[in-house]
Amino acid sequence: MSMKVNGKLGFDELDELVRPAPEVVEFEEVAHKMVSRRGFLSGGAAVGAGAFVMGSTTLAAGKALAAGHAESRLAFDRVKANTLDTITVPTGYKWEVLASWGDPLFSNAPAFNGATGGTGASQELAFGDHNDGMAFFSKNGTQVMAINNEYTNENTLHPTRAEGMPTTPDDVRKNKAAHGVSIIEVSQRGGKWGIVQDSPYNRRITADTEMDITGPARGHQWMQTSEDPKGQVAKGTWNNCGNGQTPWGTYLTCEENFNGYFTASKADYVMPDAYKRYGLSTQGRYNWAMADDRFDLVKEPNEPNRFGYIVEIDPMDPTSRPKKRTALGRFKHENAELTIASDGHVVVYLGDDERGEFLYRFISKHKYLVGGDNRDLLEEGTLYVAKFHDNNRGEWLALTPNTTGMTEAEIAIHTRMAASKVGATTMDRPEWVAAHPHKAEIYCSLTNNKNRGVKPNAGGDATPASGVNPRVKNNFGQIVRWTPMEGDHTHTQFKWDLFVLAGNPAVYDDAYAGSSNLNQDNMFNSPDGLKFDSKGLLWIQTDGNYSNEKEFKGQGNNQMLVGDPETGEIRRFLVGPKESEITGAAWNTSRTTMFISVQHPGEKGHSHWPDGGNSVPRSSVIAISREDGAVIG
Ligand code: FEO
Ligand code: CA
Ligand code: CA
Repeated sequence: MSMKVNGKLGFDELDELVRPAPEVVEFEEVAHKMVSRRGFLSGGAAVGAGAFVMGSTTLAAGKALAAGHAESRLAFDRVKANTLDTITVPTGYKWEVLASWGDPLFSNAPAFNGATGGTGASQELAFGDHNDGMAFFSKNGTQVMAINNEYTNENTLHPTRAEGMPTTPDDVRKNKAAHGVSIIEVSQRGGKWGIVQDSPYNRRITADTEMDITGPARGHQWMQTSEDPKGQVAKGTWNNCGNGQTPWGTYLTCEENFNGYFTASKADYVMPDAYKRYGLSTQGRYNWAMADDRFDLVKEPNEPNRFGYIVEIDPMDPTSRPKKRTALGRFKHENAELTIASDGHVVVYLGDDERGEFLYRFISKHKYLVGGDNRDLLEEGTLYVAKFHDNNRGEWLALTPNTTGMTEAEIAIHTRMAASKVGATTMDRPEWVAAHPHKAEIYCSLTNNKNRGVKPNAGGDATPASGVNPRVKNNFGQIVRWTPMEGDHTHTQFKWDLFVLAGNPAVYDDAYAGSSNLNQDNMFNSPDGLKFDSKGLLWIQTDGNYSNEKEFKGQGNNQMLVGDPETGEIRRFLVGPKESEITGAAWNTSRTTMFISVQHPGEKGHSHWPDGGNSVPRSSVIAISREDGAVIG
């Protein structure tokens, strides 16, 4: 996200302020590492330092498809890029809104009020703002969805406030309630999907919901606050970005830019180094400290240590307490892709979405047992961080007291510093990770990184352009994939290649044109959401530059594409409305409906989606299906 609301700083700008970029770029230093696009277009990319390591299937079949020699598995007509203020899907497909910000979950809640943005009390009973990751649950015919509400659009949430900021204690209450997770029962009535109002499953989890701290960080002195002197119970979750789902029926919500909510009430406040590494600033963008001392770094210096985790929620038990799983580390979590290794260990892949930060893997201490008591498998285990070598090999480096010189609790709380100590590879902003459903192959979006080859990460780790992150000032992003040795997700070694380098072949004829499976009909920038369907096709969602000009000319609004891992073919399936991102995905049990998030339409004030007319724009979950009712994924 890179939004700027009413002159306030977006998260990206905030980070820039904390550590401004040097003005001089050492371009020469890294330029020699680039190979020409022609090299990999012909399939002749050298494998070595700085060379692009493109997938062999991508190259071979990309050419075969171009020559008409292979049959596509992407059975829909390509959608053209556009800048319309609506959703565009292929012929034969349709979409409808399932839930929008402010929709009441209960019949005693007031209807959505676009003129005021509602109140604290109404928002606590309504669907949250900026929906993102999501999962679908079904039990005995009851269909329940858990959906993240990542952050908020102050212009629409507080439209009557001149500054667009929470201004009164009730504004803060409303803002906190618009964050978190919405759990809703859903059903299809008269052919239309909607929220089942007053369902006992309907529940809001917000920035004030109590949850247990579990794992190595529980009770540690860095977790102790005046409200919670034992360091065992955190209040709330916010900036919930991507998600995960467990085979034992729980939802994982991932705390991403938790840092942007804290401020300091004293001008001479000295920011500790550990907080600098996590992007904390004295000028967070939400004003929450006005009504809650937890958000004042001067008054509650340990509060930020209680955020940046994976939170496990049982959506089918409305009385259950969410659990923060500190064993999965503290960073700006994107999603949590969970798979079960052949020997039964739970393996979770985790991205840290910040320029020059890392990609992680968690392996549970105990094994998953079908029908067993699996509830606390995420409480204990070992974290690993990825090191990618330039020769298309890689390895997972364990983060333990032995390898880091830190205690288990310190590794759980200061995970970024632990990963720096073992020499992990600085990445181009790891976003969603997706595991192939039919084989041991994992994909991760590296969304973009303007700092690649320009400056180190916040821990001082170098960010040379090479290997898996091959381009300096990378504004387009790429998708990396890897295969663990012996098909074993617990193996420490893996092989990797790039599934696609995004770019613009209409503007560039060098590395920034992208890989050979990208062309003027399917080009995009900033891959973010990734999700495999049951057929092993990869749905790719973008959260990037939608200006449609200069280096992004011809790419239109943010979009969703489908990729075939076997052939490398990529085709655009959907274009979102103005100034939105497309993110999150889930299917109903019969897989005749696909749900996705349309987040922050009109974040700069130029959309009336989805209600049209002069209405305020509203983040919404949409349901996509085929006109003929067939399976969609
Ligand atoms: Fe919330 Fe990295 O996207
Ligand atoms: Ca994202
Ligand atoms: Ca993103």
